[in-house]
Amino acid sequence: MMDWTDRHCRVLHRLLCARARLYTEMVTAEAVIRGDRTRLLGFDPSEHPVALQLGGAEPARLAEAARIGADFGYDEINLNVGCPSDRVQSGRFGACLMREPALVADCVAAMRAAVAIPVTVKCRLGVDDQDPDASLRALIDACNAAGVTMFAVHARKAWLAGLSPKDNREIPPLDYGLVHRVKRERPDLTIVVNGGIATLDEAATHLEHVDGVMLGRAAYHAPAILAQVDARFFGGTPGDIDAVTEAFCAYVSAQLAQGTPLHAMTKHMLNLYSGRPGARLFRRHLSENATRPGANLGTLRDALARLDRPGDRAAA
Ligand SMILES: Cc1cc2nc3c(=O)[nH]c(=O)nc-3n(C[C@H](O)[C@H](O)[C@H](O)COP(=O)(O)O)c2cc1C
Repeated sequence: MMDWTDRHCRVLHRLLCARARLYTEMVTAEAVIRGDRTRLLGFDPSEHPVALQLGGAEPARLAEAARIGADFGYDEINLNVGCPSDRVQSGRFGACLMREPALVADCVAAMRAAVAIPVTVKCRLGVDDQDPDASLRALIDACNAAGVTMFAVHARKAWLAGLSPKDNREIPPLDYGLVHRVKRERPDLTIVVNGGIATLDEAATHLEHVDGVMLGRAAYHAPAILAQVDARFFGGTPGDIDAVTEAFCAYVSAQLAQGTPLHAMTKHMLNLYSGRPGARLFRRHLSENATRPGANLGTLRDALARLDRPGDRAAA
């Protein structure tokens, strides 16, 4: 998720959950080809399995960007066919590609030819006045004919005229049933459902119908739920938030030494302790101090010291 799931966020999420697949923010093929690759694509080895999401609509450019991503060590290359922002539409990619399944198929075919890792697609049900029953199947069929077998479906249409990206994540109604039906029709495909899934109980219900669940905002706004994912779905053990905190402090310390600003990392922790006594004091301390010049691990430790203090219960 753009501006959210950067490499520091993903390290924190990986500490919370060993098994779930993590996705980068969308990076355009042009940025990958022409930009600062270390900044755009660099990631921590602990993040595996991690997928690079690309945006674009030119097969040769996407193939080149996919090859660069694979060389960086990503485990999967995912093509964004779901982003509704104006900037993306003017580049004629993202959600508006729901109207051009043949072009998307050419893109993924070129990407697959360029890399040995899986190429997957994240899409919507359709856009604007498209009939979602037809548009979703057309997109999936075209990509599958080009060899793609895994699809993450944000289970609502995008309305490209008149709705902001934020509204496009709320207003078009969700239709999980269509995603479940597509999986029933095409059991050979790996279908992951996304959109509005807020709890692991909801995720478990979806998993009776599809192969996977993709959490967006819930994972960011309530990252502690990720600590339950390994135990609930992968036969692992629950994550311990305090142990995660200690491990993330070690990561923060190493990154500070390389010049990463404290705030770039701690902003992803602000919701980690929600509901715990002192959580609000923790958040406030970081919000007020983490961007100051000289902010360091001590700043984070001071914020953490505000958790669980007797008498802070009311401030949680
Ligand atoms: C801040 C923000 C940035 C996002 N950036 C991306 C992105 O780069 N690529 C993408 O496929 N989806 C992006 N999305 C959409 C989410 O991946 C997801 O499809 C959507 O929020 C619905 O799922 P959720 O209800 O679990 O959040 C973004 C969402 C938010 C809130």
